Amino acid sequence: MPDLNLAPQFLCVSADLREREGSVLFEVLEYGRTAPAFAVRANQQAVAYLNRCAHVPTELDWQPGEFWDHEQKFIICSVHGALYEPAHGQCLMGPCTGKRLVSVPLKEEGGQVFWLPSDRFQPVF
Ligand code: FES
Repeated sequence: MPDLNLAPQFLCVSADLREREGSVLFEVLEYGRTAPAFAVRANQQAVAYLNRCAHVPTELDWQPGEFWDHEQKFIICSVHGALYEPAHGQCLMGPCTGKRLVSVPLKEEGGQVFWLPSDRFQPVF
């Protein structure tokens, strides 16, 4: 039986995630391998995804932490321009239309945001 640390992991204070602006970068262990992830806020909800395009498994951001399109409406992949709905991570337009970013579950409580480890995602120490 693996030794799973399932305690919520502090990510940032709520104010660090501004509506459709900026991001907070972090890392998880995905099945034991380090994987970059990011959190943003859209429709007042804090959401997080692996920083991995659903088209080709490469990082999305055009500069570290820059995920928004110029209208700050969608998450955009810097490689081929796929547009993702930030609230649920589905690709709405681009070469991977209909596919989704991999979600990392979050919990927001008391002005703080935590990500939630699972069988798939573990903290990096
Ligand atoms: S790698 Fe992201 S759209 Fe092609």
